[in-house]
Amino acid sequence: MNALRPMIIGNWKMHGDTAALAEALEVAAGITGAAIRVGICPPATLVHRMAQDVAGTKLEVGGQDCRAESSGAYTGDISAPMLRDAGGSLVILGHSERRSGYGETDALVSTKVEAAFAAGLEPIVCVGETLQQREAGQALDVVRGQILGSLPDTIVGKPLAVAYEPVWAIGTGLTPTVPEVEAVHVSIRGVLVEKFGQDGARIPILYGGSVKPSNAAELLAAREVGGALVGGASLKSADFLKIIQSVA
Ligand code: PGA
Repeated sequence: MNALRPMIIGNWKMHGDTAALAEALEVAAGITGAAIRVGICPPATLVHRMAQDVAGTKLEVGGQDCRAESSGAYTGDISAPMLRDAGGSLVILGHSERRSGYGETDALVSTKVEAAFAAGLEPIVCVGETLQQREAGQALDVVRGQILGSLPDTIVGKPLAVAYEPVWAIGTGLTPTVPEVEAVHVSIRGVLVEKFGQDGARIPILYGGSVKPSNAAELLAAREVGGALVGGASLKSADFLKIIQSVA
């Protein structure tokens, strides 16, 4: 873990209804200390209710995507100001499930980051290589390109996190080894500092992809790992709290 304040963020994806809000309340009750930032990004339908339920606690709430435009004829989409209005403070952007399922490009993600800043949301920008790219020895180059393309120049001075999520590790139970994680995180830090100078040194770099209670401690202790983006294991408060407690 590096010197930045660690962030552990749950990505509920398309899971959870109002009954699941109890899990968020249990997480909120379990994180009274200030050393770690903890957030949950539930489905959009739950953002407002969750934000109201956990108001006054340390649990942060966010969205899983937003549109770059703030309003308009975009059936089915939600905007950054809408997420903010619903009580969200975070937004996951450029998740591989959005990149692969909806054709989201680095350039589009970059415009969404700008929209998030304009609305006062803190973006968590996801990058990561596919298995084919890793096997071809392209992981570092792919991630470098995604970082350079997905982060606008305007990040300087703004709150932002990056999440390294190898596509092949998401929801599969597979994880890279600690040295593999460190190689990518150290490389991402280098790209961030190269592009943004000292501002690039303060951006938390989260690891995501099959983080669970049994592997969280070693992943979170790895060099340049500033926290975790947790999918499946964030759905149950007991598991998520164990991951949070794994931060050294
Ligand atoms: P997972 O998902 O923890 O279920 O692998 C992580 C993510 O997609 O953010």
